[in-house]
Amino acid sequence: MGYRVVVAGATGNVGREMLNILAERQFPVDEVVALASRRSLGTEVTFGDKTLKTQDLDTFDFAGWDMALFAIGSDATKQYAPKAAAAGCVVIDNSSLYRYDPEIPLIVPEVNPEAVHGYAQKNIIANPNCSTAQMVVALKPLHDRAKIKRVVVSTYQSVSGAGKEGMDELWDQTKAVYNPTSDVPPKKFTKEIAFNVIPHIDVFLDDGSTKEEWKMVAETKKILDKSIKLTATCVRVPVFVGHSEAINIEFEEFLDEDEARDILREAPGIMVIDKRENGGYVTPKECVGDFATFISRIRQDSTLDNGLNLWCVSDNLRKGAALNAVQIAELLGREVLKKG
Ligand SMILES: NC(=O)c1ccc[n+]([C@@H]2O[C@H](COP(=O)([O-])OP(=O)(O)OC[C@H]3O[C@@H](n4cnc5c(N)ncnc54)[C@H](OP(=O)(O)O)[C@@H]3O)[C@@H](O)[C@H]2O)c1
Repeated sequence: MGYRVVVAGATGNVGREMLNILAERQFPVDEVVALASRRSLGTEVTFGDKTLKTQDLDTFDFAGWDMALFAIGSDATKQYAPKAAAAGCVVIDNSSLYRYDPEIPLIVPEVNPEAVHGYAQKNIIANPNCSTAQMVVALKPLHDRAKIKRVVVSTYQSVSGAGKEGMDELWDQTKAVYNPTSDVPPKKFTKEIAFNVIPHIDVFLDDGSTKEEWKMVAETKKILDKSIKLTATCVRVPVFVGHSEAINIEFEEFLDEDEARDILREAPGIMVIDKRENGGYVTPKECVGDFATFISRIRQDSTLDNGLNLWCVSDNLRKGAALNAVQIAELLGREVLKKG
């Protein structure tokens, strides 16, 4: 006997990947239903070798369904997640709505799988922000060995992190550069994204940081260790899929770069590609469609007693969202629901 699984937001960037990954990892399903807004009623989406017709989330009855993977944004989540949870269907949510609620676990399965047992308080589990997910996968094994004191991270985030409209905006603006008769003013982003970089993701906060930067701080503390100090600069770049991060880490203890490389090679979810030669590192284009978080450019930071630098790249629609959600579903199945 397998699970009855709901995918809400099935027409979106993350929802489509959720369906792909459930099929690729042969998640034990008895039945899968694809939901989206009424606008998409009947839209066909792919699940393995099957085609599903999208149903309307607004009229869907969650009773009798085991899990619902949500990727519909915070506003719609606020309306529908409590309904699903009350019907006994465990929600695994990709929006930021519940991430900071102390009664809701925020999980990256490679880092804090034990948190899954906290799901029962509200029948909801939160999935982290895409930039945080890949970063904590890289930080966890190093923290276990040498205890991290402080992290300085700069992100290079792809436009797919802003949904399908973000991808369309980069595509349309890029075409308009070659065909200047059409003008594509910024809509999803605050300035033109084609051939540009924008040091601004999500809203500004009073201290001059952005909400995206704040999320990386708050989520790292909740998932990994509240004693870690972190400062982030989050930047949108004209890449379709794949987030990159330059990460500087200060440890309590000395950690040699070769030992760090060996630790990361053995760590779950990580692929180290780190040759000190032309092309001996990973770029976002090469990580698209992959499950791993890739680490390159591991090197000592000679300006600190106990410092390391590294480059971390992953498919934001996968480890940053859909893959992590499916891994949580697998964990919930294995540890709690025990069907299949
Ligand atoms: N992209 C990433 O890297 C990433 C990473 C982590 C988390 N997330 C989060 O995942 C969520 C989805 O992101 P996305 O990139 O997949 O966005 P997207 O490509 O814009 O897709 C949004 C999906 O939500 C559905 N939806 C929106 N409002 C709805 C409503 N009122 N009722 C029912 N369905 C509704 C849309 O259905 P229609 O097609 O019918 O409009 C579509 O299926 C967001 O909360 C986002 O913050 C994204």
